Amino acid sequence: MLRKLSKSVREFKLASFLAPLFIAGEVLMEVIIPLIVARLINTGIEYKDASGQVVGNIENLIKLGLLLVLCCIISMIFGTLAGDFAAKASTGFARNLRHDMFFSIQNFSFKNIDKFSSSSLITRLTTDVNNVQMSYQMLIRIAVRSPLMIIFSFVMAFYIHPSMGTVFLCIVPILVAGTAILIKFAFPKFMKLFRKLDDLNRVVQENLRGARVVKSFVREDYEIEKCKGVSDAIYNIAVKADSLVAFSSPLMQLCVYGCMLLISWIGANLIVGGELTKGELTSMFTYASQILMNFMMLSMIFIMITMSRASAERITEVLDEVPDLADPENPETVVKDGSIEFCDVDFSYSGDMQKLCLSDVDLKIESGETVGIIGATGSSKTTLVQLIPRLYDATAGTVKVGGKDVREYHIETLRDAVAMVLQKNILFSGTIKENLRWGNENATDEELVHACKLACADEFISTFPDGYDTYIEEGGANVSGGQKQRLCIARALLKSPKILILDDSTSAVDTHTDALIRKAMAEYIPETTKIIIAQRISSVEHADKIIVLDEGKITDIGTHEELLNTSSIYQEVYASQQKGGLS
Ligand SMILES: Nc1ncnc2c1ncn2[C@@H]1O[C@H](COP(=O)(O)OP(=O)(O)OP(=O)(O)O)[C@@H](O)[C@H]1O
Ligand SMILES: [Mg+2]
Repeated sequence: MLRKLSKSVREFKLASFLAPLFIAGEVLMEVIIPLIVARLINTGIEYKDASGQVVGNIENLIKLGLLLVLCCIISMIFGTLAGDFAAKASTGFARNLRHDMFFSIQNFSFKNIDKFSSSSLITRLTTDVNNVQMSYQMLIRIAVRSPLMIIFSFVMAFYIHPSMGTVFLCIVPILVAGTAILIKFAFPKFMKLFRKLDDLNRVVQENLRGARVVKSFVREDYEIEKCKGVSDAIYNIAVKADSLVAFSSPLMQLCVYGCMLLISWIGANLIVGGELTKGELTSMFTYASQILMNFMMLSMIFIMITMSRASAERITEVLDEVPDLADPENPETVVKDGSIEFCDVDFSYSGDMQKLCLSDVDLKIESGETVGIIGATGSSKTTLVQLIPRLYDATAGTVKVGGKDVREYHIETLRDAVAMVLQKNILFSGTIKENLRWGNENATDEELVHACKLACADEFISTFPDGYDTYIEEGGANVSGGQKQRLCIARALLKSPKILILDDSTSAVDTHTDALIRKAMAEYIPETTKIIIAQRISSVEHADKIIVLDEGKITDIGTHEELLNTSSIYQEVYASQQKGGLS
């Protein structure tokens, strides 16, 4: 996990190395300072003349005082530089980490996307990265500083008087054991906390995205309750986790004061016995507080790392996710034509052959044909066409486009040749032109207008005051359902695809406009294979052939007239629509 994450440090390696180096310098200064203070007291303030009377020595006082100031300045410079490099390294690391995760997510297939919920991905990209960033900064600052400080201070304490040094050897194990126990209990709590944060994100995100539905169903109170429920759960876990962490503070205090007491006691005896000077006792107190302070820092880091270990694991999950659709070794880069063939295709979303959504699908579509697909909701119409641009791979059997297995193509080549207007389509915030150019970024304005005319979108775009420069809000909130569908069709047409799949793409368009779109397509893109999934028989009745799907199986294939004679499902749908609905 660490190796995986450390790959994101990249150009910030130098800063990550320099920060601890300057910290080491700072620490060195900070341990020397108490020693100079001890000297200053002993040979300056407490200087005794030949008769043994304390007279003080101003020369020593100035000399050591200046040295003290110099050490403080150097320590300050080192500290500032270390802080600067640590900040650069940690924020840069977080930036790279976010970039790498985003890159990984962009390569996800539909199957990978199904695995992570978008709310969880958001928490991972934000809160989790922030946690790791903070730990990284602490790691390169305090995790280096504190052990060094402890070691140096230990050495100095032993150097001043060995029996004083042993005081620390008694206190430190108590601290270490206490902290270890706290961490052991706190980690699972933090892991749980993060999972709850995912839930909170999901609730908020779902609510904001569906704000209009919430209002129209007057479900505000229910949504408020739901949000409160998750917030309360987070509160409860956070309180438990934090109260465990809060234990570290009294433990620390106990050790600090215990240590001070022991030092005062032993120190006083030693001074009386003439084995220790007053100056040395003063610096002993400084070392004691440095050692214990730094132990506290270290325990804080451990807790921080414990928290971010949970985050780091969640980040690595995203980075480690292998896109389940990969390009072959020597991919085909040309799609010959728009012919499609399904040979014995089975498909299951979970990969479980017992839960097949498509079974025994055999199908042949010639290039340039117009094919309609009819079937009840949930009969796997969308599932069937998703296999053509390889949004999912068939679980068994082969899907061929242009005579070749879809798995032999470079994915980009295949998807450029197959334009699919998804059933749940969205527009992105930006102008109409920008949205259309997703289909072809080099399309000229004339090409945009031409595609929009084919999709019957030009007629309403030209009524907008800003025409093609009209700004589309997030998700296409400021255009009607039918207008959105027509813009999505125009966007797909701009790809000049060999195969065009319209998945229920004219469901919100009136029948007259629907007919106009079909007519325009038949006239202007005759070579393109067109697959039209529709609920209305009128949308598919002129197709070269119509496929009837029922529970993931093709039950009938034929023209409108043939199916009227042979297919009972088709007859039923036709009859119900002729009567204007079920009766
Ligand atoms: N991403 C997915 N993960 C798991 N199961 C799915 C997924 N998408 C669809 N399904 C399941 O596959 C089956 C077929 O769904 P599909 O969307 O293909 O139906 P459909 O014929 O297009 O229906 P509709 O007319 O409502 O669009 C359904 O039972 C559905 O629950
Ligand atoms: Mg569908």
